[in-house]
Amino acid sequence: MKIYGKNYRTIWLDAPGQVRIIDQRWLPHRLVFEDLTSCTEVATAIRDMHVRGAGLIGAAAAFGIYLAVTKLSSAHLSDPLRLNEQLQSAAEFLKSTRPTAVNLAWAVERVCSRILAAGSGEAVIEAALEEACKVADEDAACCEAIGRHGLQLIQKLRKERIGLARPINILTHCNAGWLAFVDFGSATAPIYAAHDAGIPVHVWVDETRPRCQGARLTAWELASHGVSHCVIADNAGGHLMQRGLVDLVLVGTDRTTRTGDVANKIGTYLKALAARDNDIPFYVALPSSSFDWKISDGLAQIPIEERSAVEVTHAAGWFEGREVNVHISNASSPAANPGFDVTPARLVTGLITERGICGASEAEILSLFPERG
Ligand code: MRU
Repeated sequence: MKIYGKNYRTIWLDAPGQVRIIDQRWLPHRLVFEDLTSCTEVATAIRDMHVRGAGLIGAAAAFGIYLAVTKLSSAHLSDPLRLNEQLQSAAEFLKSTRPTAVNLAWAVERVCSRILAAGSGEAVIEAALEEACKVADEDAACCEAIGRHGLQLIQKLRKERIGLARPINILTHCNAGWLAFVDFGSATAPIYAAHDAGIPVHVWVDETRPRCQGARLTAWELASHGVSHCVIADNAGGHLMQRGLVDLVLVGTDRTTRTGDVANKIGTYLKALAARDNDIPFYVALPSSSFDWKISDGLAQIPIEERSAVEVTHAAGWFEGREVNVHISNASSPAANPGFDVTPARLVTGLITERGICGASEAEILSLFPERG
């Protein structure tokens, strides 16, 4: 996507052994890049949310494994046992940074398997880099395809439910935009595709407390692309739905079961409930790397990351050219901060994947991905 007229991805290889990211902690106030040169630096960037979002942390972790092997001695590279040991420890380290998004473990395992198949010596480093780049390229390609399928959905909704006289109003939660992936985004890809096709679109952007990924990141993305939007408090969505001001809810996911249960940023479930009560279609956009094919029960089986209570008790903002952090809750009160929730498949109208759109049920998901049956 473009920033100030220049094309960017969220992560790329800048030089051998050096991976460059957009450090998202500074957005929307400053555009800051960061160079990562070791697996430890990648783990810190993922844990502390310099990079975030399902697809992007997957791609970052893939590059993390590549950086880990660039640091190995030739003795390690040429001994399969020692190589495997080192890989396992880098893999566990990276996987422990953020437990909910399945893309992270998926990408790590994919690069590790490719390395182990590559043999030993310098070929290992080449294989790691090639696979990490593939993970990143495929993530971008999947999101682009999601945009194409989602565009058809938007066109159909306008024709059948909304009419052509006014913009389509889409509500989204958190940031499932291009910043959460390598490019294009999942939930935002259809929005950009519709906007670029000349369809009038207006987006209600949930603020997404406590980290405010909506207010900070989605709003910045949409503004940069010239898409009409408005930031709302998380609690405003139900009210807007009751007033007929939302035509479609479109969100991303960090992990979706093979049966269609959707884990996404905390607060998503409440939007799905309100959408159902108001007969508004609730769609989830995801690349297939966000399916967890091993599990069938989202509530019981998806680990929910518990983030620091400080994110709830404090708020960060920009004041006179610098970031300030202020205490907003009663100082002696404890706080809890579950990062994600699970929306059961029965509340999901459909899933928008790179292979097309399907219902949120095992049978329909497998009709698009028969090789997982
Ligand atoms: O905690 P974050 O910001 O990394 O949250 C993940 C997300 O970006 C959202 O849950 C998003 O809606 C789905 S991931 C594309």
